[in-house]
Amino acid sequence: MDTRFQAHAVSQYTTTTANLTARIALHGYGTNPQDWFSWLDERLPVAGDVLEVGAGTGKLWTHVDHAARGLNLTLTDFSPAMCAQLRTVPGARVLRCDAAHLPFPDAGFDTVVANHMLYHLDDPAVALREFARVLRPGGRLAVATNGTDHLDELDAIGPAIGRPELMLDAANNDFSAETGPAQVACCFTGVTVERYHCDLDIPTAEPIVAYLSSMTDEPLTPGQHAAAHALVQSQIDAAGSYRIRKHSVLITASR
Ligand SMILES: C[S@@+](CC[C@H](N)C(=O)[O-])C[C@H]1O[C@@H](n2cnc3c(N)ncnc32)[C@H](O)[C@@H]1O
Repeated sequence: MDTRFQAHAVSQYTTTTANLTARIALHGYGTNPQDWFSWLDERLPVAGDVLEVGAGTGKLWTHVDHAARGLNLTLTDFSPAMCAQLRTVPGARVLRCDAAHLPFPDAGFDTVVANHMLYHLDDPAVALREFARVLRPGGRLAVATNGTDHLDELDAIGPAIGRPELMLDAANNDFSAETGPAQVACCFTGVTVERYHCDLDIPTAEPIVAYLSSMTDEPLTPGQHAAAHALVQSQIDAAGSYRIRKHSVLITASR
């Protein structure tokens, strides 16, 4: 089995929330007036006992009023740094655990949410089987992931400055908008896919270079930093902004 994907996630997330926070910040330049988390909020099939796996900083729950909806919320992540942040979500139970080994009995949840996390796993099928195991019959799964062309214009910068390993395609497994629905269908029924229509339109180079820097433990050299900045800035000077395509989808299914 290829263990690069989970090794990358360990180095990205175990000790810090800063890398994830820098990346979420870039999505603040979205062209859709409705941001991703509130778009997701309107579509999440959440009810009853809700489990989010790989919940990160818990950003979703600043948009979803789980108490008003009467949800009983459990948040998990394998990162101690993320779990420390998750403990600030009011009323949520927080457990540190691996998505491939959920420490919950069978059929204990009505909803499982996995938002942009399955592509970090060495074997997403193992986690999908765990999600099916902990869901009650008729329970709902909500999975978000990206298409293979997601952030292509950002992915082009790493190779151009001699750092090809900064590409998302190199860091993540193939659980994508294209392949994810069939993978979900192996354990679930009634699979649906909806795309969030949005691109990024960014007027300054700094948040783009910050995103790139967040992708690695090996800092950009001053020369690489300057080259990335100059490449982005030249496009901004020519076009007024740096445009990056997004391709994110919500996959839902029933147990
Ligand atoms: C891209 S972030 C998404 C975080 C959050 N769901 C969001 O959308 O803001 C991926 C998250 O998955 C977590 N993660 C990665 N591999 C994991 C695993 N095997 N088990 C549990 N969490 C994992 C990381 O620590 C990180 O918080």
